[in-house]
Amino acid sequence: MKIGILLCVALFLGVCQGGSLRKNFYRDSCPQAEDIIKSQTQQHVSANPNLPAKLIRLHFHDCFVRGCDASVLLNSTANNTAERDAIPNLSLAGFDVIDSIKSALEAKCPKTVSCADILALAARDAVSVQFNKPMWEVLTGRRDGTVSTSNEALANIPAPFFNLTQLRQSFASKGLTLHDLVVLSGAHTIGVGHCNLFSNRLYNFTGKGDQDPSLNATYAAFLKTKCQSLSDRTTTVEMDPGSSTDFDSDYYPNLLQKKGLFQSDAALLTLDQSADIAGELVNEAKFFTEFAQSMKRMGNIEVLTDSAGQIRNKCSVVNS
Ligand code: HEM
Ligand SMILES: *[C@@H]1O[C@H](CO)[C@@H](O)[C@H](O)[C@H]1NC(C)=O
Ligand SMILES: *[C@@H]1O[C@H](CO)[C@@H](O)[C@H](O)[C@H]1NC(C)=O
Ligand SMILES: *[C@@H]1O[C@H](CO)[C@@H](O)[C@H](O)[C@H]1NC(C)=O
Ligand SMILES: *[C@@H]1O[C@H](CO)[C@@H](O)[C@H](O)[C@H]1NC(C)=O
Ligand SMILES: *[C@@H]1O[C@H](CO)[C@@H](O)[C@H](O)[C@H]1NC(C)=O
Ligand SMILES: *[C@@H]1O[C@H](CO)[C@@H](O)[C@H](O)[C@H]1NC(C)=O
Repeated sequence: MKIGILLCVALFLGVCQGGSLRKNFYRDSCPQAEDIIKSQTQQHVSANPNLPAKLIRLHFHDCFVRGCDASVLLNSTANNTAERDAIPNLSLAGFDVIDSIKSALEAKCPKTVSCADILALAARDAVSVQFNKPMWEVLTGRRDGTVSTSNEALANIPAPFFNLTQLRQSFASKGLTLHDLVVLSGAHTIGVGHCNLFSNRLYNFTGKGDQDPSLNATYAAFLKTKCQSLSDRTTTVEMDPGSSTDFDSDYYPNLLQKKGLFQSDAALLTLDQSADIAGELVNEAKFFTEFAQSMKRMGNIEVLTDSAGQIRNKCSVVNS
């Protein structure tokens, strides 16, 4: 056991920081917690099939800024612009759903279940509705942070125009590998992207009115029918055309046909090693297995545990 911990510390420093999360942390303090989160999430998803994409992205944005501490859920205040109001927040959603699940939990077990755990569990449960079984394990025991600033979101959320070097660096700074990067990018099998985040690839890639040569020309022609100018900031397109609410491995065959929507997707093909990983993940069973493992690692990033942080009473405000 001791040797295991030491090896863990020595070999996987960043990844092991969440070592003190555990299975069913609320077993004694709030035995119904995970069931309440699951049933509430299922109800919200049945009313809104786009919700799984919203919640898993919210969890990603949470974990990449100050760790998975629900900092993304905090509202701005008179003297502080919070993460959720930063530029990369564009279209973040699902806040109201987390707030409503939190209220249900407060009614049963006041001041017990952290917003960070609710978000991690709800993201998993939302994606899992389609499968009727949990798609990855979520360890619990996270506590909530008290700081949220838009500048930190800007500095830590990878941008859609990042190249592979920048993406790797971003993930490495969170203790995640190139393999995690390729696997987690597969989350783009659900959800939508706004035109302005990729339309330079269609209309003005190098400033000469040109198209991104790494984008499939047939697909580019299709995207141009959706995004008709560089100034369109409101239209969205499905990232996995035709099955954007199905969590499946379609992202990878699309990517290999040069139909990744963002430059950051296309960038995964710019190195043999990552392109090979994408090739392996075409296999859905393989993708699901790997995705489960990478989500566990993402959910462990820099978590607050034990007496660190607080258990917020409301997810959008720090306890007074
Ligand atoms: C690798 C770096 C990543 C970049 C550069 C990136 C970038 C983006 C961008 C620009 C959007 C579109 C936002 C919009 O237009 O509204 C988006 C959407 C999305 N991202 Fe990522 N992302 C990355 C990784 C991830 C990861 C790790 C996950 C989850 C595990 C994720 C899940 C999603 C989902 C589900 C959506 C759709 C959201 C919706 O439908 O509202 N992304 N991402
Ligand atoms: C946080 O902001 C959201 C959106 O503006 C709002 O609906 C919510 O009531 C705010 N939360 C609190 C506790 O004021
Ligand atoms: C914002 O102002 C309030 C009082 O006006 C203060 O208690 C709080 O610490 C300030 N927060 C930040 C982030 O400066
Ligand atoms: C995102 O930030 C912008 C300001 O940059 C703000 O107007 C918008 O309401 C924010 N979106 C959400 C969902 O909080
Ligand atoms: C990636 O982008 C960075 C920052 O723009 C740049 O310095 C670097 O040369 C790029 N790397 C590659 C391989 O294109
Ligand atoms: C394309 O980019 C160039 C260089 O940034 C810029 O001068 C030009 O106005 C852009 N074209 C359009 C249609 O926006
Ligand atoms: C581009 O997409 C078409 C079908 O939409 C496909 O047949 C073709 O192979 C793709 N091109 C590349 C380079 O993968």
